[in-house]
Amino acid sequence: PRTISLAVIPGDGIGPEVTAEAVKVLLAVTGGSPVRFELTEYPLGAEHWLETGETLPEHTLQALKEHDAILFGAVGAAPGDTLVPSGLIERELLLKLRFSLDHYVNLRPSRLYPGVHSPLAAPGNVDFIVVREGTEGPYAGNGGVLREGTPQEIATEVSLNTAYGVERVVRDAFQRAAARPRRHLTLVHKHNVLVNAGRLWKRTVEKVAHEFPEVTHDYLHVDAATIFMVSDPSRFDVIVTDNLFGDIITDLAAAITGGIGLAASGNINMDRTFPSMFEPVHGSAPDIAGQQKADPTAAILSAALLLQHLGFDDEAAKVERAVEKDLSGRDGTRRTTAEVGDAIAAAVS
Ligand code: NAD
Ligand code: IPM
Ligand code: MN
Repeated sequence: PRTISLAVIPGDGIGPEVTAEAVKVLLAVTGGSPVRFELTEYPLGAEHWLETGETLPEHTLQALKEHDAILFGAVGAAPGDTLVPSGLIERELLLKLRFSLDHYVNLRPSRLYPGVHSPLAAPGNVDFIVVREGTEGPYAGNGGVLREGTPQEIATEVSLNTAYGVERVVRDAFQRAAARPRRHLTLVHKHNVLVNAGRLWKRTVEKVAHEFPEVTHDYLHVDAATIFMVSDPSRFDVIVTDNLFGDIITDLAAAITGGIGLAASGNINMDRTFPSMFEPVHGSAPDIAGQQKADPTAAILSAALLLQHLGFDDEAAKVERAVEKDLSGRDGTRRTTAEVGDAIAAAVS
């Protein structure tokens, strides 16, 4: 028997609703097996901050490091909320976790499952993964504000790109490409404008490519990449890109493959020095929170990525198959968040 110590951070809004279903499925799929999940819930997020003034206390961060993996729901206040400063929870909790736990691979698969409606007229066979750098770029927190509130205000966010940081994520992306049938990698950047970072990314791809002669690679500027993601998304296999471009194109990727309710992600530390964290790509969706309207599929597929990361490939595949079956049987009848979770949990038990 193997016991997995899992930290669960349900968060705000629909976070707790979708996380409950992901946990349900995790427990169901490991039910009859020697794998046992031991869960510890951490109340963190905007709500928690309003109650306690805590975002991510040092002792909680240390406690999280002791777990084998983290399942994360979503955090963040409603856009109109005036009590929670914009960016506070995002920066001091979510990004702090990704940075402190060195989640340099932000893995975001996009697949148009059979039977799922895409807003594209002829999407073709869409099945690609985005390997988004997770610890650098404009997210690094470099920058500041001078003369705030004056007509002379200067605000900067400086994108951080290190040879070390770029090379490790590019190598990871090549490794993933080498393991996929099409063995193709696309670097997405904007080296015609962001010449310094762009040069580093491009040179790194060329260098690492020598280690993977079986993988073909090409390059797209990020603006052009958004065109192809709409006009010809089946061309993509593995995309490697920086933190901000990766954020933007993965919402677009979600939109063309059935919506944000289906998009899963993993924040992965491939060296396994710290636990990896798995979460839906979507946020706390304040507009539908507390109504059992959220689709838990993204959270459940994130749990499948978690299983895969821990080496439970059979269980992960089982969850993915159950999701696939559930998706292909959807006929527009409205189900609650829990009903979707129940159906998928029943299919993996
Ligand atoms: P969002 O993803 O929360 O919502 C965008 C739209 O998608 C909304 O209309 C919402 O109802 C819908 N939606 C999202 N998830 C859904 C699901 N599972 N099923 C059905 N519909 C779903 O993005 P937003 O509105 O830009 O952000 C809301 C808050 O969440 C903000 O505070 C933001 O900072 C935060 N946020 C957090 C994360 C995270 O925790 N990883 C990610 C993105 C945004
Ligand atoms: C995501 C979110 C986060 C990001 C925010 C909430 C910090 O949009 O996970 O995609 O920008 O990475
Ligand atoms: Mn995002």
